[in-house]
Amino acid sequence: MNTISPVNYDVIAPKYDARYAQNPLAGVSRELRELVTKSQARDVLEVGCGTGHWVIELHPLVRRIVGLDFSFGMLEQARAQNDTLLLTNGDANHLPFPSARFDLVLSINALQHYTDQRAFITEARRILRADGALAIVNLDPHIGRDQWYLYDYFEGVKAADFRRFPSSGTLLDWMLAAGFVRAEWRVAEHIHQEFIGHEVLDNPFTQKNGSSQLALLSDAAYTAGLDRIHAAIASTGDTPPIFVTDQWLTLLVGWNH
Ligand SMILES: C[S@@+](CC[C@H](N)C(=O)[O-])C[C@H]1O[C@@H](n2cnc3c(N)ncnc32)[C@H](O)[C@@H]1O
Repeated sequence: MNTISPVNYDVIAPKYDARYAQNPLAGVSRELRELVTKSQARDVLEVGCGTGHWVIELHPLVRRIVGLDFSFGMLEQARAQNDTLLLTNGDANHLPFPSARFDLVLSINALQHYTDQRAFITEARRILRADGALAIVNLDPHIGRDQWYLYDYFEGVKAADFRRFPSSGTLLDWMLAAGFVRAEWRVAEHIHQEFIGHEVLDNPFTQKNGSSQLALLSDAAYTAGLDRIHAAIASTGDTPPIFVTDQWLTLLVGWNH
């Protein structure tokens, strides 16, 4: 099976962290810190660690945290921020570690890219110790309450997200089938942002390589979406349209004990 992500994160890498300047995801941060404390995790792995945002944040709380990513470009950004981080290039579906190596495996906003998401869960369990846990943070468009202007203005993006992101229920089922003895689900972050008129054009997520959703579009499809946004702004005169992002990031934890 081809396990190469179709999104080229080497291109996304230089501007990826603009999203954290705009919204540091305080709820996700709180949940991850609590999880590390509650699980008494000493050895942690983040799969799909990207520019190292969460590796850097959790680093002081644990004995050892390793970041693994498929994209050398993303890893370079992580390294540029802190050259003492433990980073490695690799694929989520073939984790290059011996069995029972970690206390906690994390995957944050990355699972949608893994070509065999169920195999990743099995792989994660293999490298966890008997008292370990796997935590996945992701969007769940299947819940049906998210609103995102990207879904409204860029054709095909919503349908693609429904295919790329498994539902939380599916993930919980996969965790239990992989051998985790309990699995839990909760909301980690409620994101609510409103961009008035032209403001939306400066939002990092509106840029072609600002999110995987738009990076996956052809140039023509991206331009068509932007044209629709410009038309909506032009058509409303003195009362500019409001572009809404209203999303819930879910946290799923599979426990080995
Ligand atoms: C949206 S970024 C998330 C980065 C980081 N976890 C964060 O929350 O800021 C998704 C990351 O998953 C990585 N990725 C995609 N497919 C992968 C795979 N098969 N194995 C490992 N990493 C992968 C990408 O290179 C990218 O850095």
